[in-house]
Amino acid sequence: MTETLRPASALRIAPIVSAPGEVADAATIDAVIALWQRCNLTRPWNDPLADLRFALASPMSTVLLGHRGDRLVASVMVGHDGHRGVVYYVAVDPEFGRQGHGRAIMAAAEDWLAERGVPKLNLMIRTENAAVAAFYEALGYQIEERVVMAKRLKAS
Ligand SMILES: CC(C)(COP(=O)(O)OP(=O)(O)OC[C@H]1O[C@@H](n2cnc3c(N)ncnc32)[C@H](O)[C@@H]1OP(=O)(O)O)[C@@H](O)C(=O)NCCC(=O)NCCS
Repeated sequence: MTETLRPASALRIAPIVSAPGEVADAATIDAVIALWQRCNLTRPWNDPLADLRFALASPMSTVLLGHRGDRLVASVMVGHDGHRGVVYYVAVDPEFGRQGHGRAIMAAAEDWLAERGVPKLNLMIRTENAAVAAFYEALGYQIEERVVMAKRLKAS
């Protein structure tokens, strides 16, 4: 994805690395994980660094970052499985909330998927964070009645 400037939010949005398999620099990684922590998106059972590295290793996923000047303000992990798109770690620094940055980083994720021919984006909201559905609804997302099932696998 080419770097885009979305005037509505004044965010400079670009992938964390310019090509799959590239390694992000340590300061950027630290800033991204700190943002996720500030946004209450990390959980003890998920290793955010491993999540980040895994997303960057594949051409089917990436992490987009939104900066204002040098300051990291927003992130989204976006990927697809060959059928549907998905986003994780949708985050806007609370100090910069309600300025259109969430809308802008989600639009960039949608563009990333659309450029790869992905026709639909699915996302999950943790039950304790259900109020955030209003944010996604403002962006045109609808609640679809599905039962999500999951199983932890032993990653090699
Ligand atoms: C959710 C989040 C990304 C929103 O970012 P943001 O930059 O404040 O959102 P925006 O300013 O782009 O808002 C876009 C629209 O959503 C609405 N909106 C944003 N947050 C909202 C909320 N908590 N409740 C209701 N509406 C909300 C805004 O009113 C706006 O609508 P408008 O453009 O029609 O006025 C941000 O609050 C965040 O990082 N939250 C913590 C992490 C999180 O919960 N991520 C989602 C995990 S599923």
